[in-house]
Amino acid sequence: MIVGFDRALRTVSGVDQEQRPSPAQGIAEPELNEIERAHAAALMRVNHVGEVCAQALYQGQALTARDPDNQRALQRAASEEADHLAWSAGRIRELGGRTSLLNPLWYAGALAVGVAAGALGDRWNLAFLAETERQVEEHLSGHLERLPPDDRRTREVVRAMRADEAKHRETALALGAAELPAPIRLAMRAAARLMTEVAYRV
Ligand SMILES: [Fe+2]
Ligand SMILES: [Fe+2]
Repeated sequence: MIVGFDRALRTVSGVDQEQRPSPAQGIAEPELNEIERAHAAALMRVNHVGEVCAQALYQGQALTARDPDNQRALQRAASEEADHLAWSAGRIRELGGRTSLLNPLWYAGALAVGVAAGALGDRWNLAFLAETERQVEEHLSGHLERLPPDDRRTREVVRAMRADEAKHRETALALGAAELPAPIRLAMRAAARLMTEVAYRV
């Protein structure tokens, strides 16, 4: 629980450390105009919020998981999520933007949802993780269409995150995730849409 609290603090204060170097490393900084720069930073703020929530969801998963093998298997995904958090925060800084002011709120909300899913048992916990990863993957594909075409630094970060999320979803499915009922999937989509609209601005 102490470790969990420490991680929560680091997540919302944006000082998480990466295990793998940013995929943007070695790629030249593009010449972007003011509007493109602000747009890319805002999209990355949305992604950063998604990663703050991922930290909370995996934390909730770790707090409630009953099967130690599952827990171990998901630790790797959780550590990759910490990379995503650091990469997206780093790119926001480079673009001159800032992370969401509401991060403590996003974290608390996602942790509550993660713990609630965990309370239903491992299969539902995993189902929720798998569906989240699937939606994040789709969402990142959408961002690749909206990001400035020349902003290769941001695009490489998003592309690498998307590849990881696909792996995370497969991990959750391989561990025996249940299939979420359609109304829950739709509710998750609606909540994600609201979150992205707000995080683009604040
Ligand atoms: Fe992620
Ligand atoms: Fe993920």
